[in-house]
Amino acid sequence: MDTWFEAGHVAVVTGGSRGLGKEIARELISRGVYTIIDGRDAAALNAAVAELQTGGAVLGIAGDVADKEHAHALIAAARERGRLDLLVNNASTLGAVPLPRIDELSESTFDEIFSVNVFAPIHLMQHALQLMRRGHDPATIVNITSDAGVEPYAGWGGYGASKAALEHVSRVLAAELQDTPVRVLVADPGDMNTQMHRDAIPDADPSDLRDPADSARALLVAVARMKAPFERVRLAGLVNA
Ligand SMILES: NC(=O)c1ccc[n+]([C@@H]2O[C@H](COP(=O)([O-])OP(=O)(O)OC[C@H]3O[C@@H](n4cnc5c(N)ncnc54)[C@H](OP(=O)(O)O)[C@@H]3O)[C@@H](O)[C@H]2O)c1
Repeated sequence: MDTWFEAGHVAVVTGGSRGLGKEIARELISRGVYTIIDGRDAAALNAAVAELQTGGAVLGIAGDVADKEHAHALIAAARERGRLDLLVNNASTLGAVPLPRIDELSESTFDEIFSVNVFAPIHLMQHALQLMRRGHDPATIVNITSDAGVEPYAGWGGYGASKAALEHVSRVLAAELQDTPVRVLVADPGDMNTQMHRDAIPDADPSDLRDPADSARALLVAVARMKAPFERVRLAGLVNA
């Protein structure tokens, strides 16, 4: 079992009201980590907080990661606790469904995809780093990407380009953070049984899809086992690790 996470650690997990983010939060909370989550739908977020807080300390702040004031509020909540050990950029959008081919991808959809999937994580990382660099304990930034950022699946050009951009920013950031206690992990969770997958591929057989709870456990193992300042993991290979 991993020992990296300790009671008193503080984490921010974006998109914690359902799917993978909620399961990551559940795992962190069970290890005593004070976990801050968000989501745009306040009612869904409150329901998730009510469920998760039976396992430990969690704070929900409703808002859109692309809204800079909201992003500041997430990091400010960690600052109030005096530390930030883990930032998980998990919230993400497909833009439009059915997924448009590149020749049908509107500028506004492309803008929205990059605002949520690339610019918001960059902004959150910039703010988080001010707090993470202050401490001497190792801190970790996790960016959730996708095989669509590597493989050329038809229809996934906008989303895939955003995940590829997030991966490259992660690599550059890790190079810049050498000699600091901050590490960067890129995690590709694989196909999971979540709302996002249902939106993208409504006719997929759910029995072929992974439970996001398995992916969340694998992610925490990957963070605990990190040896280098930058790593990329496929969580499917780590399930049941
Ligand atoms: N599911 C898969 O098969 C799969 C495969 C590869 C990669 N991934 C990646 O895994 C991550 C989690 O995906 P998931 O499948 O768990 O998605 P999901 O079930 O759709 O959950 C997404 C979460 O993010 C929140 N969210 C979405 N847009 C947001 C925004 N602009 N600001 C704040 N919160 C926002 C949602 O709440 P609100 O809607 O209320 O805001 C929800 O809590 C994503 O990065 C995704 O790209 C998923």
